[in-house]
Amino acid sequence: MHDPTTLADAVRRGLTAAAKSLPPSLFYDERGSRLFDRITELPEYYLTRAERSIFEGAGNAIVAEAARHAASPLTVLELGAGNASKTQVLLRALVRRQGSTRFVPADVSPAPLEEARARLAREEPQLDVRPHLGTHAEALAAARAWDGARLVLFIGSSIGNYEDEDAIELLTEIRRALGAEGSLLLGTDLRKSPELLLPAYDDAQGVTSEFNKNVLRRINRELGGRFDLECFRHVALWNDAASCIEMHLESTRAQRVRIDALDLEVSFAARERIHTESSHKYDEGRVERLLAAAGLARSAEFKDERSLFAVHLAHAR
Ligand code: AVI
Repeated sequence: MHDPTTLADAVRRGLTAAAKSLPPSLFYDERGSRLFDRITELPEYYLTRAERSIFEGAGNAIVAEAARHAASPLTVLELGAGNASKTQVLLRALVRRQGSTRFVPADVSPAPLEEARARLAREEPQLDVRPHLGTHAEALAAARAWDGARLVLFIGSSIGNYEDEDAIELLTEIRRALGAEGSLLLGTDLRKSPELLLPAYDDAQGVTSEFNKNVLRRINRELGGRFDLECFRHVALWNDAASCIEMHLESTRAQRVRIDALDLEVSFAARERIHTESSHKYDEGRVERLLAAAGLARSAEFKDERSLFAVHLAHAR
């Protein structure tokens, strides 16, 4: 989402629709990526800690299962890697198993990628780190040309920010990049009580609210928007039928907001919402259906102690 045309198009499309929305990919400019890193450390946001604990407890088993399907050493591609802090645990397990390992963290944000590169170069000398700045599609297209076996990581329940149809499309692209020997490691947050889910998306310190409002700040900065952030409120709600947390920005009053670069004035009724993100929470059946629809089969599943989160290893069928 670095291309201003893409941002402009997405904003025009989303804010002129009858039900206003903005795609969650717009959160992740440099400030948004930093805010997301802070979210992962919040006491309420259990997802990152739960997934890390799986990697710590089952790293060797995960890596052994991926290696069982591969005749050559694994090259690791992480989609949406950010600063790759959780991944480090898994990479260590892989280095223990196969020695020197190539790791390609891919992301659209340059700053966290550089942070990952510098830290891993310092702390994990047996890793050959080759950051890829670009979209998932670009990273997967590059991976198709690699020699040897691949382990593609799509962790953190990033899949949860996709509607099922789009998730299947992305998983299909991943399957094409895996080849016969490759593995996908997929992280999914699990369906659970809204009492635990809601605070994870509406924390006491207001970091998630800042993260949500960052999309308006970004429109102001990059497209000459005139959003007054005080006139929008962060809303997180549980949609039981769709099994997802939804985030919205709710207009606190009737207002009109101009966006100069789009030559557009957007009208909001009092309490009208912009839907900014869905974060889907899965049960096993849903994960299996998504994988199967993309031509993938699950060979192993790992959960944390409290069964809050699951990671799955899958292969082309
Ligand atoms: C990146 N993604 C998996 C996060 C999630 O939990 O859906 C984004 C996020 N939104 C609010 N808090 C975190």
